[in-house]
Order: sequence, then C-alpha cells, then structure tokens
Amino acid sequence: MTTIETLELGLEPDPSTFPPALRLGAATASYQIEGAVRDDGRGESIWDTFCRVPGAILNGDTGDVACDHYHRLEADLDLMAELGLECYRFSIAWPRIQPQGRGAANPEGLAFYQRLTQGLLDRGIEPIATLYHWDLPQALQDEGGWNRRETAQRFAEYAAIVADGLGATVSQFITHNEPWVVAFLGHALGIKAPGERHWPTALRASHHLLLSHGLALRAMRSSLGRDAQIGIAVNLFPVHPAGPSEADRAAAQRMDGHLNRWFLDPLLRGSYPADMVEVYEGLFGPPDSVLDGDLELIGAPIDFLGVNYYNPERITAAPTDLPLQARRVPAPPPTTAMGWEVDPDGLRRVLLRLRRDYAAPPVYITENGASFDDPPASDGQVDDAQRTAYLQQHLSALALAVADGADVRRYCVWSLLDNFEWELGYDKRFGIVHVDFETQARVPKRSALWYRDFIARARAGER
Ligand code: FCB
Repeated sequence: MTTIETLELGLEPDPSTFPPALRLGAATASYQIEGAVRDDGRGESIWDTFCRVPGAILNGDTGDVACDHYHRLEADLDLMAELGLECYRFSIAWPRIQPQGRGAANPEGLAFYQRLTQGLLDRGIEPIATLYHWDLPQALQDEGGWNRRETAQRFAEYAAIVADGLGATVSQFITHNEPWVVAFLGHALGIKAPGERHWPTALRASHHLLLSHGLALRAMRSSLGRDAQIGIAVNLFPVHPAGPSEADRAAAQRMDGHLNRWFLDPLLRGSYPADMVEVYEGLFGPPDSVLDGDLELIGAPIDFLGVNYYNPERITAAPTDLPLQARRVPAPPPTTAMGWEVDPDGLRRVLLRLRRDYAAPPVYITENGASFDDPPASDGQVDDAQRTAYLQQHLSALALAVADGADVRRYCVWSLLDNFEWELGYDKRFGIVHVDFETQARVPKRSALWYRDFIARARAGER
C-alpha cells in the first residue's frame, strides 16, 4: 500500500471550487430527532427498549421527545430552506412503516415521510432517504434481530414498501447507516442497541446487515425507475500505528481490516478480506452465516458510496485485547468534545484511498461534523467558532480531494439540529442549529450562518 502524502490545509474553502454536481446539505436520523414515539401507530424500536435499560444512556435520557421534529415538520423544513440547503439526508423509522417489522405498510407512517419529502421538493431541497439508521422494530429483535438471517429478508420487504410509497418524491436512497456500528457496537461491545456483548453474534450480524443491503438493493431496483440512485453509508477511518514498532503496524492493519475493509471489500470487491477472515476464523471457527450467492448480492453495483467521516484512529498492539489484539490510544490535540481527533486531511486521504484501492463509485459524504461545548445561546446567537472552523477545514480538504480527481457528489453536515446522541443522550451537541430541549426553540449557530453564506457564494459563482 503506498502512502498518501499529508497536506497542511488553509482555513477558508474557496466556494468557486465547488462544482454544481456537489450538492451541500445536512443530515439527521429518525430516532435522534423525531420524538412522537407512540404517535400514528409507530411500533417499538430497539432504541426505545435500550433507553429503558438502567445505566445504558447518560442521564437516563431517551428519544421519546428528542427534537419533537415529528410535530414541528413544517417549521423545520422552513429552517432548512432559510439555510439554503441543497439536499437533506434523513432516515425513515422502520417501526413507523411496519410497526411489527413485517406485513402491510402503516399508511400514517408513510404519510409522514411523504409530507416530509414533498415539503423538501416544494422548497427546492433534494431528499436523501436512509432506510436504516439503527431503529430496528423491537418485534424483529425479539425473534433474534440481526443475528438472524430472516431479518435480512424482512428488510428487503420493508425496502420494497418504501420504494413504492416514496419513489414518487425520493430518488436517492441509502440502505444502511454505518453497519460497523450496528454490528460491533451493538453486538460485541454492547454500548448501542440491542446491547449484546458476543463477538460471534456481532460477526453474524455484520454479514446479515450486508446481505440485507444486497437484498434491498435488488428489491428496490426492480420497483424504482432508472433515475433512482441507491447506495449505502459506511463510517471510514484512517488508521495509523501509534508507534514505529512492527507490532503496532500489524495491529493497525488488523484494525483497518476490522473497521474499514470488512465492509468495503464485500461491497466493492465481492469478498471479505482474507487476513480478517483468518483472524476471525482462528478465534470463532468457520463462519456459518455466509452462504453461496450472498457475496454476489452484497457486491452488486451501487450508484454511490456514502461515507461518514469524523476522525482517524491511532492504534497500538495490545495482545490481551481479543480478538483484534489492538487498542485505540487517546487522540492527540486538537480534539472535539467527543475526544475525537480533528484531522481534516484525513477526509481527503479517505477519498483518495477509495479511488486508489477500490475504484469506488461516486461518493456522497453522508456525515461530517463535530460536537463542541458551545457557548450558551445569548441574544439569539450561538458563537460556535470551533465548529465553524471544523467545517471550513473539512470543506477545504474536500475541495482538494475533488481537485485531485475524487468524484464527490454530496456533502451533508452532521447534524442539522442538536439531537439525541445515542448512549450520550443530549449531552453532546453536533447541530449547526442549537436546540433548547426545554422549549424546543431552534437558533441557527454561527456555523449554520457561515454554511448558509458559503452555499450561496458557491452557487453565485456559477451564474
Ligand atoms: C455517527 C452516527 C450519527 C451520529 C454521529 C455523531 O456514527 O451515524 O447518528 O451519532 O455519529
């Protein structure tokens, strides 16, 4: 593997370098913003359940109300229009569409997303719909969830319902968000729903998630028109050895296999990476979940690859840390409030690697953003200088990657709104718009105003 040289980046991106084909927008996810968990026939999701497990979520927070977006849809759409967003990536709550995870569509659930997507189109904003941002119907979890192959079949049926119900207003679909998080943080480390701690289950889940992507892709292709674009969003990390030793280098290689290649290889090459198959087989025996034909489905062509980029990882060898024998070391400064290293050039390197190692399809940056402890909102303003700089630097890195030939078509800031940050509850704020969770008042932060002006300038340059 040849290395990609690191560049020092200037602060302000040049709006004239952003081609019209690269649309700028923002992202959210259903459970993190909607609230209204009992409205209009919505069934329970695994996050409703997980939030009730004592100690699972910081401060005992839940997504019951979140940003109350379900009831504030029109105002939130107006807010997106005021910011001049060109695209909006949201997710569909599976339990609103199929409350028990199977069977006929719940018309009220579909109606909400029809209103949302029509409202976006009316405001000139392109909808990008994610089918699964982690809120599995609890009824399917009760039958085994992603540990069970049948769940992949259920997902394909759900995908077909969504394609039928929303195909008139949506042409950009993402099957899964971050299958690594679902599989390993949900089933091996247990810090996200469903909270299991069993590596063999996590590995099976990773395969069933990928299989469900392949089955959903096939189902959606047959019911959507040729203009529909379908992809998947993976979270990618540049992985660096913490020190110069051979042991650290090997540990970093395993971590790269675990985090990145375990998903990229089957999706873009139609096979699991041989070194990781060996690692996992050595510990857990031959995989029983991979059947003939699965990898053809998983590796079927996608129209774009969604990339969520936040930070690089620095890895040291830790022989006792099974199964990877590798451990993350704390990030050097600067870091965000999550403790994540700020490395805008890492975004450029990820993009160039995709082109070099995978000849990847066009890329959508489906998430990129930062949590900082913002100063309090006063006089209707939030001066989030650090987030503003973070976005400026990452957009600069993106422009350089594009200039180097990376084919990037969308960029979505994570996130439009401060929201329910999973096991960290409402403690960590990622929004470019401040949300007062007592009053639900929204205040665009300085980063949102900068982003609005940047989008306007990028588009003015074209006229
Ligand atoms: C990603 C998730 C998103 C949000 C950000 C901070 O892993 O997709 O929902 O939590 O991290």
